[in-house]
Amino acid sequence: DHLRHVDSMATLPSGAGKIPELNAVILGESLASEEHDLVLPTHDFAQQAHVSSPQKYLEMYKRSVEDPAGFWSDIASEFYWKKKWGQQVYSENLDVTKGNINIEWFKDGITNICYNCLDRNIDSGNGDKIAIHWEGNERDVDGSLTYTQLLERVCQVANFLKDSGVKKGDTVIIYLPMLMELPITMLACARIGAVHSVVFAGYSAESLLQRVMDCKPKIVVTCNAVRRGNKVINLKDIVDAALSESIKNGISVDSCLTYENESAMKKEDTKWKKGRDVWWQEVVPNYSTTCAVEWVDAEDPLFLLYTSGSTGKPKGVLHTTGGYMIYTATTFKYAFDYKEFDIYWCTADCGWITGHSYVTYGPLLNGATVVVYEGVPNYPDSGRCWEIVDKYKVTIFYTAPTLVRSLMRDGNEYVTRYSRKSLRVLGSVGEPINPSAWRWFYNVVGDSRCPISDTWWQTETGGFMITPLPGAWPQKPGSATFPFFGVQPVIVDEKGSEIEGECSGYLCVKSSWPGAFRTLYGDHERYETTYFRAFPGYYFSGDGCSRDKDGYHWLTGRVDDVINVSGHRIGTTEVESALVSHPQCAEAAVVGVEHEVKGQGIYAFVTLVEGVPYSQELRKSLVLMVRNQIGAFAAPDKIHWAPSLPKTRSGKIMRRILRKIAARQLDELGDTSTLADPSVVDQLIALADA
Ligand code: WT7
Repeated sequence: DHLRHVDSMATLPSGAGKIPELNAVILGESLASEEHDLVLPTHDFAQQAHVSSPQKYLEMYKRSVEDPAGFWSDIASEFYWKKKWGQQVYSENLDVTKGNINIEWFKDGITNICYNCLDRNIDSGNGDKIAIHWEGNERDVDGSLTYTQLLERVCQVANFLKDSGVKKGDTVIIYLPMLMELPITMLACARIGAVHSVVFAGYSAESLLQRVMDCKPKIVVTCNAVRRGNKVINLKDIVDAALSESIKNGISVDSCLTYENESAMKKEDTKWKKGRDVWWQEVVPNYSTTCAVEWVDAEDPLFLLYTSGSTGKPKGVLHTTGGYMIYTATTFKYAFDYKEFDIYWCTADCGWITGHSYVTYGPLLNGATVVVYEGVPNYPDSGRCWEIVDKYKVTIFYTAPTLVRSLMRDGNEYVTRYSRKSLRVLGSVGEPINPSAWRWFYNVVGDSRCPISDTWWQTETGGFMITPLPGAWPQKPGSATFPFFGVQPVIVDEKGSEIEGECSGYLCVKSSWPGAFRTLYGDHERYETTYFRAFPGYYFSGDGCSRDKDGYHWLTGRVDDVINVSGHRIGTTEVESALVSHPQCAEAAVVGVEHEVKGQGIYAFVTLVEGVPYSQELRKSLVLMVRNQIGAFAAPDKIHWAPSLPKTRSGKIMRRILRKIAARQLDELGDTSTLADPSVVDQLIALADA
């Protein structure tokens, strides 16, 4: 066991703040009894950290919640504003009983996030610094861009977009894999005040169509194909299918900018729609490498990102410019202890919020050098990540527990074969990281030297909410530790009453923070209902959480009908509606089940149309249905035949029982007497391995 232990809590400086649980940590009262769980930052690390002790954290935290306006405007002043925000730094109403939910930060401040990412860093002398190292799927295919070169590329795309009629406030859908062109296009949109909506390039045509119909983009930016591992995925075909379907539904997209990703597919092999499609390489390089900035209000929208909820319809999470900018920049700096010399790699795709906040905006706002990787982490073998770490001398490595678990399973040799000595901070996101995966990440990948930032946050929160600040805290493997500056997490019981001290319940947040989402696109009502009506006065996260006696937070997973598969959020209803669209499926109920690598797997109970026999082929075609309607990442792991589903007399499916059957916890089924037909349960159990 390489873990560093706490010898004596006396090594932690003492001090007093206003937060009782935190004082316990500082004074070391209760922590000493849990020595075996603590991992201390090394002395050297703590010495050089931005926040080097619990006291320092407490001082900053205290100010951030007692004087949010002062705290955040001091930070915001370090960025470029064409015009400073108004008298009121922020205004908010999080209480539905008092009126509409409303959050505003830095209103009337005029700025531009692309300018702050690029021009500002160039002006301060970092023009020749590498902004992006790009690593292709194949080892020998790579490239890089300095800040100056990145700005030139961004301007060319921005000019193309403007020339194609994209104006401030218009929406642009980006359906691209992890090429440099993806962050370039995002920044180009931001530069001209257009709202980008990145759709993860693993989503199906059906899902893309749904998003096109909802946000009605002026233009779609894509590429012809991508190579991921040994597979070639034809993205242009998917876009074609979605766009020809959208026309039938009255939404026509007039322009489709297509990047020729030569290593995956040649131009000649790409299907083409004349008049609509344009090759990136034929038009973009002809545009000027400078482009005037469109100055926008802090509260003007920056992007939309669709995410899953408990109904079938994806939610268009809307983030605005100013608050999001300050929040992603600040969280990035502190949670990863970012320094100018760092080389930062986040394995997330820009199709998810992590790729927005912590591949693109957060790091670039800090003038960081970012690694962008096109391929999959285990291609050509399970050592690829560490090969990339050594190749670029990565210092901060941010990934998901599912990847940690799958690499852990492949064995230490793939890791120890590489030096990894450049690494100094590790990060985890997407789902709770189990202590054994945490320890492996810490001991084997980080050689017991690098603190792990287990960052809890959501698409909706824009940036980190509960996270260790490396260097500040003793860590507990599996705990996201304490709130970020300005964040006031509360744990509430069923009735919505705050519970103090050691407890568990629903995780909510009191008061707004700059990175909070402002609405669901076109549906403010749903925004209020989903997030603010459950526990009036608070933002409700949808997660369960417990707090231990030292005040550390332990996330326990979703408490709603959302499944977290490899850190991807999937609504059970979305999968169910995909299944029932199969002509032989009468009804379906989907639950999450523990999965060794993915965290949660998708377990589907399926009732077939009367008279249809069970078969392996049918199972396959049901799974295919889901792949086609949502995307491969949402494919059910198990189809369990269900002659009928356990329902209450009022017809509500009792998922609690289905979850127990899926987990094979048959002695924990609980009370089944309220079922309309209790014998359904025995039928299901009998078919468990059919
Ligand atoms: C849900 C949000 C935010 C980036 C990636 C996912 C779960 C996320 C953690 C963590 C425990 C976590 C929660 C949350 N989650 N990070 N460090 N520990 N759970 O974004 O798709 O919006 O999903 O992911 O359940 O609600 P997302």
